[in-house]
This record gives sequence, C-alpha cells and structure tokens, in this order.
Amino acid sequence: MRHMFTTESAATAAYVVAALLFILALAGLSRHETARVGNAFGILGMAIALLAVVAEVIHDRIDPLPAALLAAAVVVGGAIGLWRAKVVEMTGMPELIALLHSFVGLAAVLVGWNGYLHVEHHLQGPAAETLVAEDLLGIHSTEVFIGVFIGAVTFTGSIVAFLKLSARIKSSPLLLPAKNLLNIGALLAFVALTVWFVLAPAVWLLVVVTSLALLLGWHLVASIGGGDMPVVVSMLNSYSGWAAAASGFLLDNDLLIITGALVGSSGAYLSYIMCTAMNRSFISVIAGGFGVEAGPSDDTDYGEHREISAEGVAELLSEADSVIITPGYGMAVAQAQHGVAELTRKLRARGVHVRFGIHPVAGRLPGHMNVLLAEAKVPYDIVLEMDEINDDFGGTAVVLVIGANDTVNPAASEDPSSPIAGMPVLTVWKADHVIVFKRSMASGYAGVQNPLFFRDNSAMLFGDAKDRVEDILHAL
Ligand code: TAP
Repeated sequence: MRHMFTTESAATAAYVVAALLFILALAGLSRHETARVGNAFGILGMAIALLAVVAEVIHDRIDPLPAALLAAAVVVGGAIGLWRAKVVEMTGMPELIALLHSFVGLAAVLVGWNGYLHVEHHLQGPAAETLVAEDLLGIHSTEVFIGVFIGAVTFTGSIVAFLKLSARIKSSPLLLPAKNLLNIGALLAFVALTVWFVLAPAVWLLVVVTSLALLLGWHLVASIGGGDMPVVVSMLNSYSGWAAAASGFLLDNDLLIITGALVGSSGAYLSYIMCTAMNRSFISVIAGGFGVEAGPSDDTDYGEHREISAEGVAELLSEADSVIITPGYGMAVAQAQHGVAELTRKLRARGVHVRFGIHPVAGRLPGHMNVLLAEAKVPYDIVLEMDEINDDFGGTAVVLVIGANDTVNPAASEDPSSPIAGMPVLTVWKADHVIVFKRSMASGYAGVQNPLFFRDNSAMLFGDAKDRVEDILHAL
C-alpha cells in the first residue's frame, strides 16, 4: 500500500513538472529568440510525461502484456514520427499536422467508447460500482459523449483538411444548400442526444452520436475554402486539445486535462489572431464558412505588366538607400532564403537599410517565413511584422516581393468586390519601385488576380526565385 502511494505521488509530481514545462514551452515559442529553448522544454516535458505513464502502467499491472504492448506502441509510433519529421518538407508541415490531429481525434473516440464499454455497458466491476455508489454515473456518461463527439469531429475534419492541403481533393468550399442549418441542427441533435444518453445510456445512442459527429466534422471543414485553411488547421489543433482534455477526464489523468486545455486554448487563440490578420470573422470560420459565398470571377483588364532582368534589379538595388523584402510562399518553394540572406548581407555591407516585412499568413503555416529566415541566419531585429512596417513602404526605394502574392494584393484594400476584400495586406505598392519575383502571371493561393503586377512602379522578374536571387548576387 505504502509502495503504491509512493508510485502514485511520484507520477503526480512528474505530471506537475511536465505541465509546467509545457507552459514554459508555450511561453518560449512565442518569441524568436527563445523558441529553441521553448522547444527543448516541450520535448523534456513530453519525455517526463511518457516515462511517468509507462511507470504507472507497469506498476499497476504485474501482467507483462500491457507493458510489452505499450513499449511496442512507443517504439513503432516514435519511429514513424521521427521518420516523418525528417522527410517532411517545410511546405508539407500543415498537412502533416492535420494528419496528426486526426490521430488525436480517433484516440479520443476510442477512449470514449472504451469508457462506455467498461462502465455504462455492464455496470459491473469496481469502477462502475464506485461511480454508481457516488452518484457520478451521469458525469461519466457526459464525459463519454462529449469526448466521442469532439474526437469524431476532429477526426474527419482533420482528414478533410489533410486531403485539401495535400491537393488530393479540391480546396474550394463545398456549398450545400442550407449548410448552416445542417451544422446548427447537428449541434442541437448532439445536445438532445447527450441528455438522452445521460438519462438512459445505450449503445445505439453512442453509435448515432459517433456517426453524426463524423459527418459534421467532414461537412464543417469541407465547407471552408482554401483561403481559410490556415485557420482551420489551427482550429483543429484546438479541437484536438479539447478532445484530449475530454479523454483526460475519462482516464482520470490530470496531465492530459492540463495539456489538452493548453492546446485547446492556444489553438483557439492562434485561430483568432489569424482571423484578425485575414479580416475574417472567427465565428464564421469555426462555424464552417458561415455566410461565405463564392466570390465573383475576376475578368478585369488591368493592362500590361512590365518585365525586368536580374541585372536591372541589381542596378536599382545599387542605387537604393532603403530596401524592404516581403517574402511569401514562393520563397519557401524555391528554397531561396539562403540567397536572400546573402543578398541582405551584401546590401547591408554597402550601407543600404534592409528590412523584411512579414505578413501573418505569408506562406502556408504560422511563422513559416520567420523559420526560413532564421534558418538562413537573417538577424531577428530586421525582420518586422506587417503592423510594424506597413507605414514605412512610402519612403522606401525598392521593395523585393519574393514569391508573395495574396499578401501584397492591393485589391484586398481597394476593391470591395474582391474575394479577399478587407484582408490587411503589406502596402508594397507605396514604394518607389516594386520587383515581383515569380515564375508566371499565375494567381496565388486564394486564386485571385493581383493588380499590383500591372502598376506603373512594378516590374516582374520571372523565373525560380532562388535562381533569380543568385543572378542578382552575381550582377552585384
Ligand atoms: P501566395 O499567394 O500563395 O503566392 C505564392 C506565389 O509564389 C505564387 O504567386 C507563385 O507564382 C509564386 N511561386 C511559387 N513557386 C515559386 C518559385 N519557385 N519561384 C518564384 N515564385 C514562386 O503566397 P503568399 O503571399 O505567401 O500568401 C499566402 C497565401 O496562403 C494566403 O492566401 C494565405 O491565406 C494562404 N495560406 C496561409 C497559411 C499560413 S498560416 N501562412 C496556410 C495556408 C494557406 P508562380 O506560380 O507564378 O511562380
């Protein structure tokens, strides 16, 4: 008895330490300078949590089978995780994350079903007897139902997000008639079924809620258009956190509750920040594109665009006193960040005032550009957020738009009929000269034409961004 007490309190202590490490990890990850340390805290916290769980399971059951199963799961899961993290391209991160969220959702569904089969189904055994004796059966049933519901929504929602992000299905929104009524109806049905299940737990109710939630998750994310996908991934991150917290209640595991709540709330907050950055209503996005209509197709004639050569850009740069670089998804595709960093060093050595302007949703995942620039050792203090730099384009000699498109589209602020109207953008067109690096006149992620390319002070530098940056370095 005394021995058990020691193991239990050691596990509790380990959980508290792990929870604190997770909080420190989140705090660290919120700034460039401390992100690496934050990551280390997260890894340490997860290692401690895993060890504590393994120790508890081995101690609870003398039977070697659960321990062997657990060891096998950790080894296989760890190996697959290591392999995927090693081979994934930076641009493939959001889809990998979406896939991982689907596992959390599925786990929550299985934990919920397991809870039902162990307790409500038989109403036998020590766990069920304690719950009945303490009049807590209703709470257990609510936990089962909520856990299964959030888990199943997260599961299919994440699979659709994965399929959309990896271009296995079309990213345009599915616009079913009365789609909002379908979503609201599903939520109301869930509330009614929960009450029913608490009063009279039955397996068919669990089957119905699981199917309903699987369909709802699929429909919610299928209704969301490509432009809102970043928000969806972070929203699913939040859902997966709440699903984990629900499992924590069922498994009576405090660490899972704390971690789930941390993931749930930070994911929700990140979704909110992204919605603000894209001028989208948070409620409309989480409700599955509530009120989103397909935008009009753009057949406006913006006139002719101008082209410039790498030598021409080098000449402009050698006469410039100030340069702002606004990178986007194309810089990531071309892996041009090292060349861009080299160009920055060269220009700074000549006394040019060089800064970077980063849009909050540039690229394909939050912080995408910051990670690439940090990897190429661009100093943090010249990498500025959109709000910090947007007033400075006016007095700038040259802006280099490297593989960015939607995030520098003037239509967002000038054309109320544009599908991206209202999204705050980098006001690059206010500079004296704007050079746009891209391979063609194709539109960006949102599929919208960009009038910037046709402005008098803009010129296109066609080709792969990495090659073109190297040509400029050569010419300089
Ligand atoms: P985008 O609008 O996606 O445009 C990227 C541009 O890069 C394209 O116009 C493309 O033109 C060009 N490009 C691609 N490969 C290139 C290469 N090798 N060399 C040179 N150029 C290349 O980029 P953005 O301005 O970064 O905007 C991001 C968009 O993604 C937003 O609509 C945002 O909502 C969405 N989104 C963001 C996230 C997050 S969280 N950041 C996640 C998912 C989606 P060419 O094909 O002509 O070369």
